[in-house]
Amino acid sequence: MNLLEISNLKTHFFTEAGVVKAVDDVSFNVEKGCTLGLVGESGSGKSVTAQSVLRIVPKPGRIVDGKILFDGEDLVQKKDGEMQRYRGKRISLIFQDPTSSLNPLFTIGNQLSDIVIQHDKVKKDAAIETVIKTLKLTRLPDPEEAIRRYPHQFSGGMKQRICIARALLLNPQLLFADEPTTSLDVTIQAQIISLLKDLQKDIGMTLVMITHDMGVVAEMCKCVVVLYAGHVMEIGPIETIFEAPHPYTAALLKAVPRLDQTRKLISIPGNIPNLITPPTGCRFHPRCEYAVALCKEKKPPLEDVGGDHFISCHRWRELRRGA
Ligand SMILES: Nc1ncnc2c1ncn2[C@@H]1O[C@H](COP(=O)(O)OP(=O)(O)OP(=O)(O)O)[C@@H](O)[C@H]1O
Ligand code: SF4
Ligand SMILES: [Mg+2]
Repeated sequence: MNLLEISNLKTHFFTEAGVVKAVDDVSFNVEKGCTLGLVGESGSGKSVTAQSVLRIVPKPGRIVDGKILFDGEDLVQKKDGEMQRYRGKRISLIFQDPTSSLNPLFTIGNQLSDIVIQHDKVKKDAAIETVIKTLKLTRLPDPEEAIRRYPHQFSGGMKQRICIARALLLNPQLLFADEPTTSLDVTIQAQIISLLKDLQKDIGMTLVMITHDMGVVAEMCKCVVVLYAGHVMEIGPIETIFEAPHPYTAALLKAVPRLDQTRKLISIPGNIPNLITPPTGCRFHPRCEYAVALCKEKKPPLEDVGGDHFISCHRWRELRRGA
């Protein structure tokens, strides 16, 4: 069963320089209880997709078209007041940088219990109990003591655990983790990934893991959505995507740094396009080593290639035969 169904979502930014088509006709589903990887290079529209679901797209951006069905209800049609009942409570978000997302002026106990008090209309004691219980879930050492401290008294990794606890406080059904480990050092990254994996298993949470790191996706996700310049390039089960990837995904995979080999990080040649005047046809064509004339002329449809795998590429059949 799908918890989230995004169809034909368009979220654009109306800037002085022109309309930035950040998310441009994006469709994908998130199955209940599943961890989905939302991947793509910087600027591909991952965060704007999450912001669209939570309806927190910053100005001058707005959703211009499409549907976002969450548990059967279209969030695009909800009034702002109604969305308040979804944010935090039913859909939550963990940000990249834990430092800037915690309030430096309040103790952890105060800022987290306030969220519980506001939403659940409970007394402070009961709220603190929920906070401690949730901090325990994230394996923060000594939560009873931690609630008395201020954000600056914790390391980056511990702050991210606190942010994860904050996101889980109200038992959301869906959690977006937007590059939750990018600001942390490598060992701490691994700990946070392992924590998210355990939480997913233990509480059966539905998780959308936003990352540009295919290694993280391989470790955590059952299903992957690959975005490029506001378009969906590919959707499919992780094994299939690793076996027979779209040309863009193949390039991303080559860019995974291999710790077991003395191989340097390979970056994809060329830059992500300007989204005010994006490339015609397949948006990846200026950088694709397989591009032909048709790629420039016509946008490839997202085709069902079997086995829950969908590819947007004019040449997927030939490339698969040649593989
Ligand atoms: N407030 C804004 N005003 C104008 N353009 C914006 C704004 N926020 C995002 N964009 C544009 O939307 C596009 C998609 O941005 P988004 O933040 O979703 O990328 P991303 O895939 O999350 O990248 P990253 O990996 O760097 O976080 C980018 O081209 C970006 O310039
Ligand atoms: S449609 Fe063409 S340009 Fe786009 S990925 Fe396929 S081969 Fe490359
Ligand atoms: Mg982002």
